[in-house]
Amino acid sequence: MKDSFGREIDYMRISITDRCNLRCRYCMPEGISLVPSEEILSFEEIVQICQAAAELGICRFKLTGGEPLIRPDCSKLVGMIKKIPGTKQVTLTTNGILLDDLLDDLMENGLDGVNISLDSLDNVVYEQITGFDELLKVKKGIDRAVKKGMRVKVNSVLQKGINDKEWLHLIELARERQIDVRFIEMMPIGFGKKSKGIDGNEVLLKLKDKYPGVKPDSSVHGNGPAVYYQIPGFKGSIGFISAVHRRFCGECNRVRLTAKGELKPCLCYEAYIDTKKVLRGLAYTDPRERKEGLKQALSKAIALKPEMHCFEAEDRITEMRQMVQIGG
Ligand code: 5AD
Ligand code: SF4
Repeated sequence: MKDSFGREIDYMRISITDRCNLRCRYCMPEGISLVPSEEILSFEEIVQICQAAAELGICRFKLTGGEPLIRPDCSKLVGMIKKIPGTKQVTLTTNGILLDDLLDDLMENGLDGVNISLDSLDNVVYEQITGFDELLKVKKGIDRAVKKGMRVKVNSVLQKGINDKEWLHLIELARERQIDVRFIEMMPIGFGKKSKGIDGNEVLLKLKDKYPGVKPDSSVHGNGPAVYYQIPGFKGSIGFISAVHRRFCGECNRVRLTAKGELKPCLCYEAYIDTKKVLRGLAYTDPRERKEGLKQALSKAIALKPEMHCFEAEDRITEMRQMVQIGG
């Protein structure tokens, strides 16, 4: 379905939990309040939303969180969404800790790709950012996923004075492996406002300095706004998602669903449509009527999509929650 600016909205990011097994400072600071579990959408409710979304032309779904893999039977949900007529792709964003354990199950259920959030390959820096000493497990998960032929992307957020030199090590993941390593700019959402992000272009200049043969890679890699480059001799590509310094809202293709069922037209603003109210309010009615209610809610959210974010003007950002409460 097209929004009021003519953008085709065919992608939905679904947060399936606001819990996480890490505490990355900029995403889930200590002391954050959790959504009571009865308010979190059940798998059946999520699937009903996806069915309605599929009828409106949304064909790609990304499960996220919090950490989606800590929700019991997460792979079952992958299979349930894959079976919906019209679904082209179900992928997952994870911190990778449980990936090695759950990979086989996820693949059996048809997972099409996995994005692994990883900000450092140094044990000390990793623990400084995430609060836990789990890097080894993440590396194991990445390697096994690649070996088993899963499409893997690594997402890194660089912060001044914390992991700004890590790009040099992180890109090495793409030398011998067919992995996309992507640098995502820190967005001024939640504690991201207080963190010092790095302009993606700064990293690109350093990359070109180190590897003068770097060339733009125009092949399509996924659903999103990343711009890719190829380093000669590297199997994987290097991507940049520069939401702040290179606004890509003109190509926006997505809506977001929070764990408690708020359908968000845009990350930057607090506006949402409450799908839980529709789902639970119409719980005992005819399923067709419920689907119509959900389609209306989705259409409303798509119609409400703003033209662009205002990350450059913090006083106009109305979304005040942390990333983990929205969906990373
Ligand atoms: N800006 C950019 N990315 C963020 N994430 C969390 N907070 C921010 C932010 N402010 C990312 C994490 C992880 C995913 C869950 O969301 O780095 O990749
Ligand atoms: Fe789309 Fe909002 Fe993201 Fe811009 S910030 S790309 S409009 S969701």
